[in-house]
Amino acid sequence: MSDDPPEQRPPGTRGRLRGDGAGSVDTVISVDDVTREAERLAAEGPSRDEIAALAAGTPFLYIDGLVAGYGKMEILHQLDLQVGKGQSLCLIGPNGAGKSTVLHSIYGFTNITGGTISVDGRDITRLGPNAKLRDAGVAYILQDNSVFPDMTVEENLWMGGYLMDQPAKAKQAAEQVFDRYTRLAERRHQLARVLSGGERRLLEISRALVMNPEILLVDEPSIGLEPRYIDMVFEILHDLQHVDGKTIVMVEQNAKKGLEFSDIGYVLVSGQVAMAGKGSELLENPDVGRLFLGG
Ligand SMILES: Nc1ncnc2c1ncn2[C@@H]1O[C@H](COP(=O)(O)OP(=O)(O)OP(=O)(O)O)[C@@H](O)[C@H]1O
Ligand SMILES: [Mg+2]
Repeated sequence: MSDDPPEQRPPGTRGRLRGDGAGSVDTVISVDDVTREAERLAAEGPSRDEIAALAAGTPFLYIDGLVAGYGKMEILHQLDLQVGKGQSLCLIGPNGAGKSTVLHSIYGFTNITGGTISVDGRDITRLGPNAKLRDAGVAYILQDNSVFPDMTVEENLWMGGYLMDQPAKAKQAAEQVFDRYTRLAERRHQLARVLSGGERRLLEISRALVMNPEILLVDEPSIGLEPRYIDMVFEILHDLQHVDGKTIVMVEQNAKKGLEFSDIGYVLVSGQVAMAGKGSELLENPDVGRLFLGG
């Protein structure tokens, strides 16, 4: 057994993944090796038809040939992504592959120099984040800890409705969230700083729900959480997809959890889709297993 399973390793650290042999030290492969091997896989990425076939029916979120980055630095090169309404898609891949940048681009945080992003047939490529949230039903749950620690749980939720024209509407929407998550309701008057990691993540997700979005962009939902909270977060996301019909695009370092959860999985390497398949298929894929699932 490796004493450093990838699912417990924070991103950005130089970790080691177990190989596919007996799992002994000799078969451990470095992160650099993972990147090199993944780039080999990327050389023949999926066709647009394969990407289209994975999305159920007409794609709800449709990204075509996206070229995007930060300033003059191009990170995503001709990226395609398609997901049907009520489906979930998980992006996995090495650190720095551009997974978060895909979510940033959908939400409007990057410099887009080519391609299009549309939701439900409407081109939203050039909309800024506020318009995305208010008019296009796209909500983004950040990778970084984003609760306001010195505000109460209730005030944090109200912040989720900052784009609503009347504060009363935000409060009403917050009450609906409290009705659903009693765990938060019990703590509504406490400062967010006293919440446990799992409760904080719940608050982050809930805050995004205040605007009643159709599409949830979720960056690393399990990061930094104890296993029992990881399960809780995935159960909440499962309900949002299967009970509420939300469309979910997530990035997950814990590739096993992310692929188990998601209908569709993409392996992203160097700003391009290297592999695409049903989540369950990628879980069974020996290359994915060796490179991203710890053997
Ligand atoms: N705000 C930014 N400004 C400039 N460069 C950025 C910014 N955010 C990310 N980058 C760069 O873009 C590239 C892709 O980063 P991104 O965060 O999308 O990777 P990632 O796949 O999410 O990695 P990780 O698994 O470590 O979270 C990296 O080279 C990174 O340094
Ligand atoms: Mg990231």
